[in-house]
Amino acid sequence: MSTFRTVKGFRDFFPEECALRNYIAETWRVVARRYGFVEYEAPVVESTDLFRKKSGDEITKQLFCFEDKAGREITLRPEVTPSLARMATARQRDFKKPIKWFQIGPCFRYEEPQEGRGREFIQFNADILGDSGPATAAELISLAIDTMREFGVSADDFIIRLSNREIWNGFLAEKNIAAEHATAFLGIIDKIERAKPDETEKKLGEIGLTTAEVRAFMASTDENHPAFAELKANLAARGLWQHIRIDATIVRGLAYYTGVVFEVFDLKHGLRALAGGGTYDKLCALISDGNVDMPAAGFAMGDVVLGILLKRTPGAQMKLTSVLLAASSIDAFVVIADEAQRPHALAAIQQLRATGIRIDYPFGSQKVGKQFQAAEDRKARFAIVFGAEYPEVIVKNLVARSQTSVPAASVVDEVQKMLAEPAAGPLIA
Ligand code: HAM
Repeated sequence: MSTFRTVKGFRDFFPEECALRNYIAETWRVVARRYGFVEYEAPVVESTDLFRKKSGDEITKQLFCFEDKAGREITLRPEVTPSLARMATARQRDFKKPIKWFQIGPCFRYEEPQEGRGREFIQFNADILGDSGPATAAELISLAIDTMREFGVSADDFIIRLSNREIWNGFLAEKNIAAEHATAFLGIIDKIERAKPDETEKKLGEIGLTTAEVRAFMASTDENHPAFAELKANLAARGLWQHIRIDATIVRGLAYYTGVVFEVFDLKHGLRALAGGGTYDKLCALISDGNVDMPAAGFAMGDVVLGILLKRTPGAQMKLTSVLLAASSIDAFVVIADEAQRPHALAAIQQLRATGIRIDYPFGSQKVGKQFQAAEDRKARFAIVFGAEYPEVIVKNLVARSQTSVPAASVVDEVQKMLAEPAAGPLIA
């Protein structure tokens, strides 16, 4: 065993984890496209300044940052939103509004690794720029919901917790609390369910509030609040409102959110958030030094908590199992029963692969029994046997346990036809 291990918080992707990662990314991509989103990508490293001011305190403490050889301060991106704002504002004239873009790629945060949190994770970002009204928020929340459902995760398994920062701004104004306390106040609300009650009381006291009045306001904030009216009508028209739970404690740690904020949580396992987002109307102006004032909204979903949830959710498991199986399986294994036929076998393998059929075969002389074992191990649907019968070859259906003999010259056509038929067994995804 090597003395080398992965760096703390980083992951190896052995084939099974790689198949899971690809399945997650491909599902994200399919659903985002269904919503008319177009894929983009940003650099994995950015200048540290981009995140220092724009992401807010919590993330700034978790930056993976270093100096490059020329003394530049650079950071492995902890999130993609500041890069997106930089890109979209730089070329905003080139794109029709609203801009609907999605991205899938790794992010890095120097956090304490725990269930659902590592130092490297893959995010799916979906953002709409140039519009951030209730219809935009509804489109994004709907995309988040459909993404979960596409994985086989249902209304019984997850919930969207929704709020709006403006509600709290209204509360602060009503209580005559100075605007400069808003950030500190939202920080307290963000942690109110986890922090010690006397600490919360003390912190609220410092800005002239009590836990009792904050709690009373939270309890009175429900789905009938006017701030949610349009969003609710939109999502209800899509039949999706049952996925939403109004929760005033959702304010989100990131500094740039201005209005609607939401997070996706599982309902059965108490896992960390699966996704989070909201509107951020000032970030583009901030990043472009006031040159481009563009409202925006978006969310990001991570692969880590999602992967845990998929493995634990019965509705998601069947799809997951078949995807993992398909990732390592092949269509046919070519058995070379007579080494004299190897050149003919190689020629056929080349033709079969050219049509897209997934083929494997032994590199050197091997007992026939061992070759059939390899075919089973690789979950091949067919074994194609090149032996003494050549120019006839035997095609064995390993699922149905049947076989036929076909001329070598037509083996490609025959195998293609057989693969097009539904498999009559449990093996095939
Ligand atoms: P965020 O809530 O910081 O939002 O992250 C979004 C998701 O990324 C989380 O819900 C979680 O699934 C995943 N995630 C975050 N940190 C970790 C970690 N250390 N390990 C594993 N997964 C993690 C944002 O990043 C915003 N930029 C989202 C956004 C896009 N807002 C507007 N557009």
